[in-house]
Amino acid sequence: MVRLKASLWVILFSIALVSIQMKGSFGSESSKEAYVTLLYGDEFLLGVRVLGKSIRDTGSNRDMVALVSDGVSGYSKKLLKADGWKVEKISLLANPNQVHPTRFWGVYTKLKIFNMTNYKKVVYLDADTIVVKNIDDLFKCSKFCANLKHSERLNSGVMVVEPSEALFNDMMRKVKTLSSYTGGDQGFLNSYYPDFPNARVFDPSLTPEVLKTRPVPDMERLSTLYNADVGLYMLANKWMVDDSKLHIIHYTLGPLKPWDWWTAWLVKPVDAWHSIRVNLEETLPGTGGGKNQNDELVVKFLFLLPLCALLFCIYRSIQGHEGSLCRTSLCNQIRYLYYKIRSNGTLGYSGVSTSSNMTPSYQLHSVGTHSKIPQHLGAVSVVVCFTAVLISVGISFVIVPRQIMPWTGLILVYEWTFTIFFSLFGCFLLLVHQHGKKVAIQTESSSLDDSSKGHQRGGVSCDVTTLYYGLGMAFLAIAAVSLPYILGITALFLRLGLMVGVAIILAAFMTYASEHLAIRWFLKGLEDRRAISKSLCFLC
Ligand SMILES: *[C@@H]1O[C@H](CO)[C@@H](O)[C@H](O)[C@H]1NC(C)=O
Repeated sequence: MVRLKASLWVILFSIALVSIQMKGSFGSESSKEAYVTLLYGDEFLLGVRVLGKSIRDTGSNRDMVALVSDGVSGYSKKLLKADGWKVEKISLLANPNQVHPTRFWGVYTKLKIFNMTNYKKVVYLDADTIVVKNIDDLFKCSKFCANLKHSERLNSGVMVVEPSEALFNDMMRKVKTLSSYTGGDQGFLNSYYPDFPNARVFDPSLTPEVLKTRPVPDMERLSTLYNADVGLYMLANKWMVDDSKLHIIHYTLGPLKPWDWWTAWLVKPVDAWHSIRVNLEETLPGTGGGKNQNDELVVKFLFLLPLCALLFCIYRSIQGHEGSLCRTSLCNQIRYLYYKIRSNGTLGYSGVSTSSNMTPSYQLHSVGTHSKIPQHLGAVSVVVCFTAVLISVGISFVIVPRQIMPWTGLILVYEWTFTIFFSLFGCFLLLVHQHGKKVAIQTESSSLDDSSKGHQRGGVSCDVTTLYYGLGMAFLAIAAVSLPYILGITALFLRLGLMVGVAIILAAFMTYASEHLAIRWFLKGLEDRRAISKSLCFLC
């Protein structure tokens, strides 16, 4: 009886042992395969995060390995680990082709995936790709698989590789002698695998039985479904393949990377990328939805600063009405400051002009005053206006963080473009106004000699016309971007065409408006010299 019990225990124990072993071997089988990507700097971090999320969303539990070079910060590595990536540090592989020394310096580094001998097979994905349908089938692909693009050339954005030290060393030997049409790894691989265009297409539906009956090919081609190029989508404004069968989308368009906020406003397929991005988990504090704590802070600051300035001005203008200090120089100084800041807001020069005094007097003096308008005032104002546009748009794009959400980016750029433009052009109009006054003083002191010192005004009264022009410009600027969306146009070239069309109308309008306003403010300067300062406290 005791012997029986003991042998029962032995049997149970060995069953347990065998099952543990089997489980162990299963586990190592799947960990012999991995998805791999490469990260050179923090700029692509969000891309890698979204890629990882997309892989997990499609139900894959394979290892995800991020090869990171020196340019990647410690925080980024921590975040990637928290997201479930295995982070491996690699040193850059120097580019033997010295043609493009700076931009292409480290591009041969990608060849290091051929040296990842810890894994039996790796699927390499560029950081600007996303997986929209499970691609675990790709591990069935043979020793080297990639996608053909640029007619007969392979694209190294998505590759299946069977790592081998011998293969890698052979590549390293040939790196210096084989030519590279891109100056980088892609060109090199095309030279290394010259027969690649003749490889047959990988068929994921083949069963293991069928695969066993045929020799393993050295390389296979992947269908477009595994590397669907957004550039191709842009040409036809649709995927050339069946949407439902798409597996990998590759955002190849050079400056239009999916993580830059403006890309979403130009490239339709970026919607798919963003829908994954917004669902990124908060694996480290403040990183949910692909957020970045620094950017969040900058966004808040950029959003609130012009608004605070506007509120401050409104407060000032209310205060200004109460005081009888209006005529003191202090008040005038404040008014100048106020108008400069006030013009920060999109309102421009708002308020009611004392038209009863202004408009008729323009007509009254029109014969005399028009001769005093500087000859080049119109041309100068147009130049100033367009320079101000370039400066304001340029500064806005520089100060607004790139990887924020598309709506946030658009609103912030509008806010700051308007703020900077109206400040710059407002200052110009104030200068013109001052100049007008100077001219008036000069002519008056030479011709008339009334005691006009008391008439001199430091304040600038508001002008409804200026406000309308400002609003018109703002409206056209907003229309230029929003019209394609209102009309539901998704084709890139049509979108851009429409934007350019409205932008031309805007430019024409601004040419007219800037010239008109400059003359108007010059005349106003002349008027203000003569006018009795009764209108001073009617400001806004
Ligand atoms: C390639 O892999 C081997 C073994 O893992 C390693 O010793 C070697 O340094 C690697 N070569 C390069 C250039 O990274």
